[in-house]
Amino acid sequence: MSTTELRSDTPAPGAVADVDWWRGAAIYQVYPRSFADQNGDGTGDLAGVRARLPYLRDLGIDAIWFTPWYPSPMADGGYDVADYRSIDPLFGDLAEAERLISEALEFGIRTIIDVVPNHVSDQHAWFRAALVAGPDSPERERFWFRDGRGEHGELPPNGWESEFGGQAWSRVIGADGVPEQWYLHLFAPGQPDLNWGHPDVLREHEEILRFWFDRGVCGIRIDSAALVAKDADLPEVADEHHPGNHPYVDRDELQGIYRSWRVIAESYGPERVLIGEIWLPDAERFARYLRPDVLHSAFNFDFMASPWDATALRASIEQTLDVHAKVGAPATWVLSNHDVTRPVTRYGRVDTSFSFDAKRFGTPTDLALGTRRARAAALLAMALPGAYYLYQGEELGLPEVEDLPLHLIDDPMHARSGGVDPGRDGCRIPLPWSGNRPPYGFSPNGHRGETWLPQPADWAAFTAQAQAMDAASMLSLYRDALRLRRDLPALGSGSLSWRDLGPDVLAFARDDGFVSVTNFSGGPVDLPAFDRIWLTSAPLEGGRLPADASAWLEST
Ligand code: NOJ
Repeated sequence: MSTTELRSDTPAPGAVADVDWWRGAAIYQVYPRSFADQNGDGTGDLAGVRARLPYLRDLGIDAIWFTPWYPSPMADGGYDVADYRSIDPLFGDLAEAERLISEALEFGIRTIIDVVPNHVSDQHAWFRAALVAGPDSPERERFWFRDGRGEHGELPPNGWESEFGGQAWSRVIGADGVPEQWYLHLFAPGQPDLNWGHPDVLREHEEILRFWFDRGVCGIRIDSAALVAKDADLPEVADEHHPGNHPYVDRDELQGIYRSWRVIAESYGPERVLIGEIWLPDAERFARYLRPDVLHSAFNFDFMASPWDATALRASIEQTLDVHAKVGAPATWVLSNHDVTRPVTRYGRVDTSFSFDAKRFGTPTDLALGTRRARAAALLAMALPGAYYLYQGEELGLPEVEDLPLHLIDDPMHARSGGVDPGRDGCRIPLPWSGNRPPYGFSPNGHRGETWLPQPADWAAFTAQAQAMDAASMLSLYRDALRLRRDLPALGSGSLSWRDLGPDVLAFARDDGFVSVTNFSGGPVDLPAFDRIWLTSAPLEGGRLPADASAWLEST
């Protein structure tokens, strides 16, 4: 087995010192199933990613974050992991992953993997053993097995609800067909929750971190990071809980768990980082995870979920920068990921904010308007101090696919909502690379089979190939912006100072006279005095910045 070490002569990606690369990086999220299919089975694979590394280098990113690539029954798109030390045969094998990690490094691109500590697959060896071993066995103590309530144990142990809808408990049916205990799953039934009060669970995850750090990965994205610890008494959820004492959200003992992870990451050197997926409404509680001995970084979903509105976005930016500064952590800026509605669709709606609860079929959108705003949002977000995360297809301006045939929807959120929630597959459609019809170069030339989710018939103009030749395309905008983000020392990590251009304009200066201006008003606005225009998201109108547009200026 070959082991890829992070070599010290690896070119430093980004404008910041190597060990601090993550503070201002541009990190590209690959959803392997839908990125590029090299073997022609209609599902993306690691060979497909390897073949597209030049595309990613030319895009100007510093790192790739891979959503889970491990063996999985795919009850939740790979977030149901059956074995952390291997690769799903759909995607390749461990040797292929090692090759990918080392080849990416040769392109100056680091690798971040996804670790899912809250739960495993119901096909994971531990859970299978727990089922066989039966009630009161040590094997069951690694999970949350409980007897049911009611005369015959027919009611779940408590009333907790799954994040995907429905109850968070499923009942085991014994080999003799007789129902027995229940087990907890905050997500789908195929994702039993681990008991982090059990020493095996901590030990196992420490070994998993080492396994992948030994193979040269530079970062770990921690899935559902604030849900991992549970109150062992499993009390009901009340309307209010003292911070840190909710039965399963943001419990104080998580800090200790992640401190132990931090020690492991740092034992591999300062450039190995831990990035939390943390959805919390309370920014101060969020920032506790980013204290210097806990996680390095976490996704800033408040900004992503904010409506397209100058006041709301400014408030989000200020609060974000404020709470991060207090703990010395860099902010992150995110417009999309594999869970949320694509920005061009979201920003074209009447309600431009994002919330899982509000997702419904048939919500109208104006894609031309949404695309203008998504272009402006990209420049705004990439100009802010900190790291920028982009999700595959964002750079192509792909819309959410909202008319998938119902029987093809794979995401458990759809079925568990009783068919009310469209689910997340609309942002997980296989990428269009080239050509005029499906599979648009996603699968090899001549491939006639279906891609795992169907691609729209009208995506020819969205292909990377078509957009690479068009200076006005979304891809060209992202390439230009990411290149400037690398070349201009003012961008990436650092600070900002606001410029007042009125209530409907967000304008701020970074160092070296770099100024970013975004116009949220209904009409064009004057730009401040400038020496040069670096980039705009839309052509100026008579020298003025049009509505729903951003400009990057040099203004000394
Ligand atoms: C967050 C992931 O981003 C999402 O895709 C997944 O369904 C849940 N965590 C459960 O693992």
